[in-house]
Amino acid sequence: MRALVTGGAGFVGSTLVDRLIAEGHEVTVVDDLSRGNMRNPHEASDRISFVRADVQDADLIDVMAKAQPEVGFHLAAQIDVRESVVDPATDARINILGTINVAEAARAVGVRKIVFTCRAARSTAPPPTCRCPRRHPSTRCRRMRCQRCQASSTSTRWDRRRYNIGTAVPTSDQQHTLIARVCGAEDDPEYAAARLGGLRNSAIDPSRAGRELGWTPVVDLRTGVSASIDFFRRHR
Ligand SMILES: NC(=O)c1ccc[n+]([C@@H]2O[C@H](COP(=O)([O-])OP(=O)(O)OC[C@H]3O[C@@H](n4cnc5c(N)ncnc54)[C@H](O)[C@@H]3O)[C@@H](O)[C@H]2O)c1
Repeated sequence: MRALVTGGAGFVGSTLVDRLIAEGHEVTVVDDLSRGNMRNPHEASDRISFVRADVQDADLIDVMAKAQPEVGFHLAAQIDVRESVVDPATDARINILGTINVAEAARAVGVRKIVFTCRAARSTAPPPTCRCPRRHPSTRCRRMRCQRCQASSTSTRWDRRRYNIGTAVPTSDQQHTLIARVCGAEDDPEYAAARLGGLRNSAIDPSRAGRELGWTPVVDLRTGVSASIDFFRRHR
């Protein structure tokens, strides 16, 4: 399979690229290197095509046309929640307009599927309300009765299957203890005010991914924390 991975030089994207290469797929990475670097994807650097580009670029369509991916994985993102609060316009340009640009370019060249990854806080946000002049703006759109919304939803032809990936087990102070142990630091947390824009609680239910994809968590928290710290030590 030919795959294109936006954000393929980042934390999640580079891990995905390694996996795709290991499974024998052809991979094009699109990344502007604003955060990632091309030591990621570390194990595959001579076996991928790398294009340094911003997902907002108008000529992304040329990149897609050249790569002809069957599947696109969209992981390029501004991921810093604090940044999104301080500068929401830039965040929206990258995360919303950039995503639309990727989707449009993919549609134009006939990409079969786009897999979009984001934090659960974003994907579980309530659906937008209908802005049709005939409905009160505070009521949700009943799609079957709203031609305007029906038109916009059918023109994208996305099936909108969404999967939560997680263990459904909440963790809090344990993380500090784990990270401190792995780093060889004191387990002596300093409590501060909640971070602006931060999610207070999150324990997402992955049962749909289990049912429909056969996905089940195989990495426990300790192993995952160790692997993540190892990644950042090697690549940042
Ligand atoms: N890291 C996690 O634990 C985690 C968990 C759940 C979801 N996610 C989601 O996965 C996605 C990737 O996260 P990550 O942790 O790998 O982040 P990351 O910052 O490590 O990777 C993002 C990559 O996108 C690139 N990028 C940023 N803006 C770009 C632009 N305008 N054009 C092209 N490339 C651009 C960066 O250079 C970087 O390589 C995000 O949507 C994030 O919300 C991450």
